[in-house]
Amino acid sequence: MANGERLEVRPDGLEQLNQVTAYACRDEVALILIDSPPVNALGGDVRRGLLEGFTRAANDPAARAVVLACAGRTFIAGADIREFDHPDLDAPGLHAVLDVIEACPKPTVAAIHGTALGGGLETALCCHYRVASPSAQVGLPEVALGLLPGAGGTQRVPRIVEAEAALAMMAFGKPVPAARAEAMGLLDALIEENLLDGAIRFARGKAHEGSAPVRVRDRTEGLALPHDAQLFARFRRDNARAFKGYTAPEAIVRAVEAAVTLPFEQGMQREAQLYGELIAGRQSAAMRYLFFAERQCTRIPDLPRDTPPRPIAHVGVVGAGTMGSGIAMTFLDAGLPVVLVEREEEALARGLAAIRSNYEASRDKGRIDQATLEQRMDRLTTSLDMADLAEVDLVIEAVFENMALKQEVFAKIDAIARPGAILASNTSFLDLDAIAAVTARAPDVIGLHFFSPANVMRLLEVVRGAKTGPDVVASAMALARRIRKVAVLARVCDGFIANRMMTPRMDAARALILEGPMPWEVDAAMRDYGFAMGPFAMLDLVGLDVIGWDAATSSSSTITEVLCERGRWGQKRRAGFYDYDDKRRATPSPQVETLVREFQQTSGIAMQPFSHEEIVERLLLPVVNEGARLLEEGIALRASDIDVALVTGYGWPAYTGGPMFWADDHGLPRIVAALEAMGETPCALLSRLASEGSALHEFAPGKIPSNA
Ligand code: 3HC
Ligand code: NAI
Repeated sequence: MANGERLEVRPDGLEQLNQVTAYACRDEVALILIDSPPVNALGGDVRRGLLEGFTRAANDPAARAVVLACAGRTFIAGADIREFDHPDLDAPGLHAVLDVIEACPKPTVAAIHGTALGGGLETALCCHYRVASPSAQVGLPEVALGLLPGAGGTQRVPRIVEAEAALAMMAFGKPVPAARAEAMGLLDALIEENLLDGAIRFARGKAHEGSAPVRVRDRTEGLALPHDAQLFARFRRDNARAFKGYTAPEAIVRAVEAAVTLPFEQGMQREAQLYGELIAGRQSAAMRYLFFAERQCTRIPDLPRDTPPRPIAHVGVVGAGTMGSGIAMTFLDAGLPVVLVEREEEALARGLAAIRSNYEASRDKGRIDQATLEQRMDRLTTSLDMADLAEVDLVIEAVFENMALKQEVFAKIDAIARPGAILASNTSFLDLDAIAAVTARAPDVIGLHFFSPANVMRLLEVVRGAKTGPDVVASAMALARRIRKVAVLARVCDGFIANRMMTPRMDAARALILEGPMPWEVDAAMRDYGFAMGPFAMLDLVGLDVIGWDAATSSSSTITEVLCERGRWGQKRRAGFYDYDDKRRATPSPQVETLVREFQQTSGIAMQPFSHEEIVERLLLPVVNEGARLLEEGIALRASDIDVALVTGYGWPAYTGGPMFWADDHGLPRIVAALEAMGETPCALLSRLASEGSALHEFAPGKIPSNA
């Protein structure tokens, strides 16, 4: 995220090169300025301006050095991702522009504020020097778009930065704060004063030094540093789990390997070849789609963008269980004070201890320091008295999933909370409107559905009740950004978006094991597809007893019920669908295999072998069908919102783009035919879109949900 600092530039004599770039030369230094909101991406006009500006600076007799800077919130944040699918072929290509920048015979300095990312940092690396505000960040986040840095980043960074650090920077894509970037050798100086003045002074100083500036491509500091011969093999091995399924990290490793072993030009060719393969592939298309899909989620058609959110400075959380304590941490992390209210002293102590030990674990891993830990704990107060919610701006209820209890709690909150406070429920499945109905302020009631662990998972479903006020929705969306969540808007239904979407996968998995495959085969197919865990391993983790087994009433007519009856409740009993050892490592259970075979024999269904692809289709096509129903019913605003919810809330592999993107990619006629072949009825919308040759993403994008 750009970090708030804006660069306002109005030097005398600034002359526009085109709409988004300008040139000035004063006191021996040429200034090339980009002003292309929102993030100064390298679109066609910026490239034109850069080419003209650097050509002019090189030939300007008055200029002895050159500074490249950006106006507004940030230095160049990368290539213009919008252009990837609609290239501006009339404009010069980025490589041609960078060649001209790099060939400038006068010292060139990039003045960095905000975030220099991707092609932005690569542009800066074609300058001789880089200076930055202390608050700036630099990074090569292309991997998050299924790409590698394709404008020389993979070759130039390892020339000035130690190979392993260069590799990590590109393979994980995490931006590096300025101070660290300076220590790594990526930046030459931090400028505490006015960035532009400092950069100009720095540039003039370099011109006066008189020595010929050295291009990054010719430097060898990074290459000269020793790195162990096994670096690349070890890096691949250590990160195999994190990179599983993704094509970009391996391409990055290969490109950096080329940087440390080949001459620059050959390395550049390698980079270009690998980049070309990635950008033409479906993974990058899916991940670029998700980049915009995430940002699209905040657009709500009937809600003007300037709807003022209600101020939220103090938060109350009711219930200090698994979710309540995680939710409290989310706000503490974002700097908001929280009062955590319980009805039981023991539960409160447990919640408080969970929060502290979670922070201690973060501290021990070096993620936060002791001072931050204490600050966060200091922002937390606890109480056994609901009256302590009187002053807060937002209350989030996270008590047991029970309608009568939630209504009782909401009636109490209604009586206590100040007028104008937002009242939210974290319910997973219950009817928000029925909860709102017990209050005298239904417009103030909203669902804020966090995912477990709440302080880690990025998804926040914002559930809009029939009477929820528009400003309350706007407040929730704005709040999500503050607490670094991705907000997806849902209407009220059983399970909202993410949980409702995943129910058919579980149902299909349980049905499928009656037809031949064993639970671990089904799980393996899902892991192959890219999920971290299959549905049966997931059931074992959650607890088979938790998902609706009741010893008194259960009929033992399903495999899950029999397993519960036998005490195989999952990981907590060291036995569920799998057997678990003391370290909770799973192995297929022979007992379960026998049980599944017994059920298979009595099911009357003909057994058949299933390939992994067939298993994937059996489990995931019903999910697509459910997604189409969510659109049809107006529960979700758009197909891309559904994809964002599943990728950020349920670990759906990002490189598939999510179920809706996946379905469109396969073609809806194929999806409909496959659903029919497996005996499922495609919903009306899916059938219609398929017959019209349309796609889920074309369905009334941004349509206002109809159950208002
Ligand atoms: N191209 C086009 N549009 C971009 C963009 C880019 N590189 N980066 C951001 N935007 C747009 C967003 O879509 C959004 O548009 P909207 O307001 O219409 O929705 C707007 O800029 C603001 O973006 P955010 O809401 O994300 O603003 P933040 O302040 O939260 O974050 C940011 C700013 C840190 C720059 C963040 O937008 C970001 O991470 N951008 C992507 C950076 C990136 O991936 N760069 C690499 C691009 S690939 C590349 O460079 C290839 C090269 O190696 C050849
Ligand atoms: P939990 O059982 O861990 O915690 C609930 C807590 O609420 C307990 O500590 C209990 O003492 C407290 N409580 C009960 N009545 C109370 C009252 N009147 N006043 C104050 N505190 C009271 O439950 P969990 O898992 O945290 O779930 C809470 C809610 O969050 C449920 O609605 C659940 O559906 C939802 N949810 C749960 C998720 C999960 O993965 N566990 C995910 C998303 C939502």
